[in-house]
Amino acid sequence: MVRIAQAVTAQAAYPFATLAVKKRAMEQRGHTVIDLSIGDASLPAPDAAVAALRERSLLAAHHHYSSYNGILPLRRAIADWMDRRFGVALDPEREVTALMGSKEGLFRLPQAALDPGDAAIYPDPGYPVYPLAIRHAGGRPIAMELSKRNGFLPDLGALSEDTGRSVRMIIVNFPSNPTGAIAAPAFYEELYRMAARYDWIVVSDNAYCEIYDDAPPRAALEFDPKHERTVEFFSFSKTYSMTGWRLGWACGNAELVQALVKVKGLQDSAPFEPVQFAGIAALALSDAELVPTRRFYGSNRALMKKALDAAGIPYFDARAGFYLWARVPAGLSAVEFTDRLLEERRVLVTPGTAFGPNGEGWFRIAATRSPDQMQQAAERLEQGLSR
Ligand SMILES: Cc1ncc(COP(=O)(O)O)c(C=O)c1O
Repeated sequence: MVRIAQAVTAQAAYPFATLAVKKRAMEQRGHTVIDLSIGDASLPAPDAAVAALRERSLLAAHHHYSSYNGILPLRRAIADWMDRRFGVALDPEREVTALMGSKEGLFRLPQAALDPGDAAIYPDPGYPVYPLAIRHAGGRPIAMELSKRNGFLPDLGALSEDTGRSVRMIIVNFPSNPTGAIAAPAFYEELYRMAARYDWIVVSDNAYCEIYDDAPPRAALEFDPKHERTVEFFSFSKTYSMTGWRLGWACGNAELVQALVKVKGLQDSAPFEPVQFAGIAALALSDAELVPTRRFYGSNRALMKKALDAAGIPYFDARAGFYLWARVPAGLSAVEFTDRLLEERRVLVTPGTAFGPNGEGWFRIAATRSPDQMQQAAERLEQGLSR
């Protein structure tokens, strides 16, 4: 019999893989499930990206290994976009790298930046990759509680002097998955005051920066003008509905970005070049061309807020991102509630505990399906559970 590494055997499956199994079991019993669990866009990718992919894939010159950090024209387009959107000036040679999706880079960055035993703060509830990545790198994950009390922002002032000093890295994510919270400039200012005092590396996951109702979210790099300690991650997945294309980028401090490229080079290559050209085409879209995407998520969120109000379920009033973070009715755990919602109403949402222990008592709705499906899901949610 083959032996699997103990670390892998001991590791729980990625939460969304577990949910997919539950959904399949339901479908095998002949039920149609509305899946509001995973943050996968139901919109098509931009025509310009598809056209660039088609054209470039016909050229044999693009069928080979690409440079590990991606092609220079893409890194230049990224630097231009960062300047346009945030006023952040980056050197495309050293301060930018393409990624096969931002998840890849987020998982590898701790390997590039942490030594065994180094402490790293991550948000809980938060994207589940963070603590897994820190642990995989031999680091020591320290959960930073996000709670309703703090408007789902980390309470940096609550960290003890000892913890502050022992920490090497902090990961932040705004607009947040799963809560949808956005950080105001005052939060970033405090973050960088503390980061400078304790010499932290700041990792900012900005995958949802273009999905907002009114106030455009900020970039952490705006608050670290010399790029002394920041690596910031961006994704084509959410803004351009290109989840399956696997394209993202990391940018910021040159030493950290180059260390990430080094780790990455040991483990994979760059994305398929035609996909990188498609990324250039996507980044060339004007802000006005992103408005329909923003409206799509905004109106889906609004629809679900109405349904939650009607069902008497409290939630965080998210005005950005893909998600709504809502309260599990009293007397049920997050998993019990989401299992019953699937069983009784055929709506799959994510139990808050998929995002860390502080997610207990909450569930996450991804407002990503077509308006028709969202409407059906809203009606089913309003019915609530049977007694
Ligand atoms: C907060 C956050 N960061 C990063 C990612 C990864 O996105 P990708 O690897 O598709 O760029 C996701 C995906 O759901 C996410 O929610």
